[in-house]
Amino acid sequence: MSGFPFYLVLSLPVLLTCILMSINKRKFKQRPKLPPGSTGLPFKGETYKLYSQNPNDFFSTKEKRHGEIFKTNILGCPSVMLTSAEAARFVLVTHAHLFKPTYPKCKEQLIGPSALFYQQGDYHTRLRKLVQGSLSLEVIRSLVSHIETIAISALESWSGGHIVNTYEEMKKFSFNIGIFTIFGRLDANNAEELKKNYSILDKGYNSSPSMSGTLYKNSVLARKRLSQTLSEIICQRKETRLEEKDLLGRLMNATDENGNSLTEDQISDNVIGVFFAARDTTASVLTWILKYLHDNPTLLEAVKDEQKVIYERNDEGSRPLTWAQTREMPFTYKVIQESLRMATVISFTFREAVADVEYQGYCIPKGWKVLPLFRSIHHNPDFFTDPGKFNPSRFEVAPKPNTFLPFGNGVHSCPGNELAKLEMFVVVHHLVTKFRWEVVESEGGIECDPFPIPQHGLPARQWLSYCIKEQLPSTFQNPDDILGIEPSLRGKLSVVYSNIFEKPMYQGEIAFHIPESR
Ligand code: HEM
Repeated sequence: MSGFPFYLVLSLPVLLTCILMSINKRKFKQRPKLPPGSTGLPFKGETYKLYSQNPNDFFSTKEKRHGEIFKTNILGCPSVMLTSAEAARFVLVTHAHLFKPTYPKCKEQLIGPSALFYQQGDYHTRLRKLVQGSLSLEVIRSLVSHIETIAISALESWSGGHIVNTYEEMKKFSFNIGIFTIFGRLDANNAEELKKNYSILDKGYNSSPSMSGTLYKNSVLARKRLSQTLSEIICQRKETRLEEKDLLGRLMNATDENGNSLTEDQISDNVIGVFFAARDTTASVLTWILKYLHDNPTLLEAVKDEQKVIYERNDEGSRPLTWAQTREMPFTYKVIQESLRMATVISFTFREAVADVEYQGYCIPKGWKVLPLFRSIHHNPDFFTDPGKFNPSRFEVAPKPNTFLPFGNGVHSCPGNELAKLEMFVVVHHLVTKFRWEVVESEGGIECDPFPIPQHGLPARQWLSYCIKEQLPSTFQNPDDILGIEPSLRGKLSVVYSNIFEKPMYQGEIAFHIPESR
């Protein structure tokens, strides 16, 4: 120690202080601050605020105040919302291993804990292959004529001039498509049971089990009945020993590398999961398409012109639509894309941080929910000029990568997106070539159900309007004089009524009637 320089001994405390400060600094660096933002009232958080107003307003107010990353409290969970395209990619694609899919437990129980979208890793990959297989382009191209039959029957059931809740009717339509995709042809009694109980389950899905609870309890009971019906369907399938290629068949016949099959519960959870993922999303977008076309008559005319060409090529609609024709609707496709962007029916998705994650200098603590906001990305003027304007022609140029995410991104992105778009093409084709419709409450705002839908589900009236020229004498060539057809009378009673003469005017094959309100 004798040779140890004295000045070093003197500077030792200074050195120690420096080392400690640098350790502290590193520690401080390791624990960045939480994102800015408010978490609302204790327990209640900001859930009500989010779901009771136009979600665009909620997100843009927050973003203006706090920037692209902010904290909040949704559904009783501390959460971080992220508004940028890079952040959505960070969470869903490049760092997806740090964020697991998550839903509130009570909701997970209603759908089924083994459903695809709550899963990660090998089980997710295995299930996803099965679901994706049943929704591949190869499979859905064989569904066109079935989708067409279901669409025509739905549209005809709304026509006649009475007011319908468009969203509710679209839900029935997308559920029927779901039934066909999952089971192929299904016995009518089983289909009815599934519809009835899914609708009860749906009514309680957004209620809380802790409140008086009747709706939630009813949902739980309906979920049990759904499992029973599915169990019977599975039993019937086993008896026939047919290896069907629909989703149920694929789930029933799948085995893992050890030869294990999926359990009946796993099959049920995934069937109900697909209904859940498919029904309200598709119905909500279809409802918005009707509203946007109604609000933009010039665009409606352009869609009609495009569809009329196909209609005429199919001998005035007497031949069915083909898969190739559904791929040749460029303007209609832009309308669909713009509707998906404007409405962004999945405003955000839920993930949970599996570790403390640092993002842009902020800490997202382990266990917090992380919500990439698709809606904010779709309404960002840097990506979509004048984002509040419905302008399908913006899709003449492909959006920048990772900025158009109606079907999500990464390993959990939507496997049903091609089916959903096919449903839209088919419905729009028949709607604009054979029907006229009038929105009853066109000025209304947005309602969250929890998917954003037009106010009150877009009440509308619809009339069948085809065959007019061929069926009527020259005095009745103006379609405005002929507003409706009563489906129950079609082909049976051959009388046309006019709103001008208020008496039967024409004997033909089809009976039209004019609603009294005209
Ligand atoms: C316009 C209609 C639809 C929209 C906007 C939509 C949107 C989405 C989005 C954004 C996701 C990702 C969620 C996440 O990352 O957490 C998703 C997942 C999913 N969608 Fe769709 N979807 C639609 C229709 C459908 C249809 C028709 C089906 C099936 C028939 C379907 C089945 C699924 C399934 C099973 C998942 C979960 C995938 C996984 O976790 O790996 N969706 N959907």
